[in-house]
Formats: sequence, C-alpha cells, structure tokens
Amino acid sequence: MIVQPHGFQPRISKVVPMRPRGVFPGAGLLDALQARVVGQAHALARIVPYVQMHQAGLSPESRPAGVFLLLGPTGTGKTRTVEALAGVLHGNEKHLLRVDCGEFQMEHEVAKLIGAPPGYLGHRETAPMLSQQKLAAVASEACRLSLVLFDEIEKAAPSMTRLLLGVLDKAVLRLGDNTSVDFEQTLIFMTSNLGAREIRKEIAPDFGFESLMPRPEPGAKRGGAERRLDQIGLGAVRRKFPPEFVNRIDAVITYQPLDQKALAAIVDQQIQALERHIESRLVEKAFELDVTDSARRLLLEMGTSTEWGARELKRTILRELTQPLAAMVANGEIKPESLVRVERAEEGKKLKLAVMGA
Ligand SMILES: Nc1ncnc2c1ncn2[C@@H]1O[C@H](COP(=O)(O)OP(=O)(O)OP(=O)(O)O)[C@@H](O)[C@H]1O
Ligand SMILES: [Mg+2]
Repeated sequence: MIVQPHGFQPRISKVVPMRPRGVFPGAGLLDALQARVVGQAHALARIVPYVQMHQAGLSPESRPAGVFLLLGPTGTGKTRTVEALAGVLHGNEKHLLRVDCGEFQMEHEVAKLIGAPPGYLGHRETAPMLSQQKLAAVASEACRLSLVLFDEIEKAAPSMTRLLLGVLDKAVLRLGDNTSVDFEQTLIFMTSNLGAREIRKEIAPDFGFESLMPRPEPGAKRGGAERRLDQIGLGAVRRKFPPEFVNRIDAVITYQPLDQKALAAIVDQQIQALERHIESRLVEKAFELDVTDSARRLLLEMGTSTEWGARELKRTILRELTQPLAAMVANGEIKPESLVRVERAEEGKKLKLAVMGA
C-alpha cells in the first residue's frame, strides 16, 4: 500500500539526453517480481515505474532514480522485494548493497559508512562502506542501476539520517577523505518496522484479517482499511523522522500482513526452492520429492502466524520437512533417484515421509 508523503513535491528537472541502456522489462518486470514476491502487488506496481524511467533515460537528474521507504510487519516481503528486484535486473539476488542500520546506532559508527578523514586515527583501516566502486560492483551489464538497501532505518543514529539527507536530495555523499560518491544511478530502499505494532493491533486477530482487507488489483481504488494502515505507518514515520527527510522519499509503501492465499503460494514457492536445492546440491545423489496437498495444508496450518508472517512458515518447513529429509539422507535411507512422498500422518499434527523406491 502506498502513500505519498504530505507536502511531497516531485522534483522534475530537465531531462538528461542519454541513450537508453539495458533491457526494457516493461510489464514483464512486474510479472517477474510478482512471481517472487507474493501478495504485495500494490507495492511492486509502485516501484516498477521508477525502474522504467531509468531504463528509458527519463529519470530526473541530480537525485537517485528512486527513493522508497518500505513499512509493515515482519516477514511480509520488504527485504524480499529488493532481493527479487536484484534477481530480475541483475540475474543475482545478492547483487545489492545492504547497510544494516542496526550496526550504526552510535554516532561514532557512522564513520564506517564514509571512512575517517585523512590523518585521523584508523583512517587507513576504515575503507568507506559506501564508495563508488561498491556501487559499481552491484550494477551489471544488463542494468546500470545499483540497488542500495538501508535495513531497519529507525535504528540508525541521527547523524546517519542527516548523511542520508544529502544522498536523497542531491544524490551525492561526501566521504571522509572529501571525495564524493554519485548516487544518481541508484534505487534507494529503506525498510522499517515503524508502526508495525499498531498495524497488528488494528487487525484484531478474532476479527479476521481477510474479511477486513479484500485485496484489490494494482491500480484499483484503495480500501478504507488499507488506507488506515497507510496512515498508521506514515504517522509513525513522521513522529520518528524530520519532515525534510520524509519529504525526500518518493513513495512510502506499507506492506500488508499476508493472508492465507498468499501464505499458501509461499508454501508452494518454498517447496519448489527445496526441490531445486536437492537437484543442484545433491547432483547424482538427488531424489524426487512429492509433497501432497494434505502435507502442504498442514505446513500452512502450522506455519501461519500473524506475528511473524512468512518467517514462521519458513521455519516450519525447515523443521518439519528439510531437517527430517536431511536426517534420512545422512542415514542413507534415501537412494539416489528414488521418490520421497510427503503426506500428513494419520495421527497427530505431523508429516509422514515415505521412500517409494526409484
Ligand atoms: N510476500 C512474500 N512473498 C514471498 N516470500 C515471502 C514474502 N514475504 C516473506 N517471504 C519469505 O519470508 C522471508 C522473510 O521475508 P522478508 O525478509 O522479506 O521480511 P521483511 O518484510 O523484510 O521482515 P523484517 O521486517 O523482519 O525485516 C523471505 O526470505 C521469503 O522467503
Ligand atoms: Mg527485512
């Protein structure tokens, strides 16, 4: 869900004459992202136009190609979105520069980002985390955009927020040695759990989230309940950050708690990933997996959590499926090329794994 911060003025400067570079993913980009990030179509539909503006050479100059603040409860796909974008644009989900703001809670730690000035103690040891080379290293032949992720921004020391102001405003970061880093060819994502607790409270568990929040298609009019969640998120952001910071953000996007349909799709996605993993890691020892519907339903039932979102689902699959499979492989119970059928056990809330032969 998306809200334009109050008082936001899009700063359109003159168009840079530039030959379009890389691919033009068009509508394909949205589809590719939706295949990786489930149930957050609104968020993705808001990010895609900024990528397309960059691909077309129409991004405003002297500022980053896009600045986003992703809000919402834990395990709803905020970080996943940036990884998915890296996967689609650069062919590698790790192709992004991640700054864990929890590591910059003290003022003196901010020097790790920009490096200490020459002559200062530790100057040689503190290579800046944010350098032009590091930005270039996460771009690719296919796409010149570097993705920069500031995770858990609310944890950063105030001096880091001040530092970021310059980056968001002019796309320039001045380093400790007085050189500068150009952020024009970057998409900047900040994630935060600000307001997430109030959002959870708003969605009373006995009320039933799905009945409260019908999920519209991208571009459809926002429902009242969704707008309310947007307002909660933005209110929390305004209380934490100064207006000049909030006004430099292109889109504040509130991620919704995942409903049962989305969680069911994530179960399928995770099982597919496990199958790929078995194939690529075990090679000639690989086996086939047949996870029945009853097993999938049980995983969904056990892994549904309003508090932890898809994180609980991932943990459940690891505990109930991946680890028992690993134990069977380690004990030599699964012969290469055999089929392992996974069903719900007749008794109790557990899975039954049976080797069916080759
Ligand atoms: N919408 C989603 N679609 C597909 N997978 C998801 C989604 N949300 C979460 N997941 C799965 O759960 C994991 C954790 O999600 P993610 O890291 O995106 O959470 P987050 O919203 O950034 O939470 P936090 O606020 O705790 O950082 C992901 O690695 C992914 O496997
Ligand atoms: Mg995250």
